[in-house]
Amino acid sequence: MICLGIESTAHTFGVGIVRWNGTILANLKESVTSIKGGMIPAEVAKHHREVANKILHKALEAAKVSLNNINLISYSAGPGLPPCLRVGRDEAVRLSKQENIPLIGINHCVAHLTIGDLLCKTQHPLYVYVSGVNTQIIALAGKRLRVFGETLDIGLGNALDKFGRAANLGFPAGAELEKKSEGGTYIELPYAVKGMDVSFSGIVTKAQRLLKEGTPLSDVCFSMQETCFAMLTEIAERALSHTEKKTLLLVGGVAANKRLCNMLQIMCKERGATFAAVPLEFSGDQGAMIAWQGILENKSGRVDNPELADIRPYERTDDVDVTW
Ligand code: ATP
Ligand code: FE2
Repeated sequence: MICLGIESTAHTFGVGIVRWNGTILANLKESVTSIKGGMIPAEVAKHHREVANKILHKALEAAKVSLNNINLISYSAGPGLPPCLRVGRDEAVRLSKQENIPLIGINHCVAHLTIGDLLCKTQHPLYVYVSGVNTQIIALAGKRLRVFGETLDIGLGNALDKFGRAANLGFPAGAELEKKSEGGTYIELPYAVKGMDVSFSGIVTKAQRLLKEGTPLSDVCFSMQETCFAMLTEIAERALSHTEKKTLLLVGGVAANKRLCNMLQIMCKERGATFAAVPLEFSGDQGAMIAWQGILENKSGRVDNPELADIRPYERTDDVDVTW
């Protein structure tokens, strides 16, 4: 049995092809990037529409399968930008109807978590989910993935991207900011932890001001990373202690950052917990995670009616019933 997953929530259009046992056969994607920074939803959706067919066929080719071999089509129903979500949904519905393949619409954030479990072989860890929009500390409690702590304003990735825009690092800026931080020295930035939550916008404002005043870019990048990651490490440690979890799993696009991995790893080691991070290829948005989440939910009996296939732009991680 094979599932084809379609991702289109934001900057990336991706198609992943995954076997029921979790073997990833293909994971193709194309992302919108820009030198100036920022994304206009209608333009991103246009990009996705233009590349959809090409990516689909490249993925089928890479997986050495044809549409006849696909047993389930999964798509990101949300959360995300509505014009972008519609591209993935429409493509999924079209394929489902044309080839008579069952369809399922899943939650993108939950897929970031479960692809981590698949690849790191973790079971019910404490998740640290850091991406563009989201920054959440999550653990399974009952039938829900409960959010124990989160950002009160913007996601960590968006904070780095926002600063990156002012510093001409291009979009997305996280990886470039990581490079620029090398050799920097620390300058104090507003450390904003409120109970189990964090906020990043004060840090971005101060970092932008420092840059304007002539502070070396490497110092500002280094200080942003140190401050934001230390805040995250603090709330992650508190959540490990509350939940008595013994494993921490880092997922989402910002999981690509080596310094963040390093800080969380040190904290886990000191507490006798295990640290795992989703492999780089699967940290940012891609279709394999959408396919795998589709498989998990389909195995537990879910299937959607293509006539009623919706998009859910605001669906939260903790809105989803964990049936798998
Ligand atoms: P969400 O999953 O919340 O909907 P998203 O889909 O936009 O958000 P992802 O693709 O998971 O997010 O992650 C993208 C983010 O990861 C961007 O903000 C980017 O700057 C950040 N990122 C990528 N590589 C790195 C890195 N090496 N260091 C820090 N941040 C990084
Ligand atoms: Fe994402």
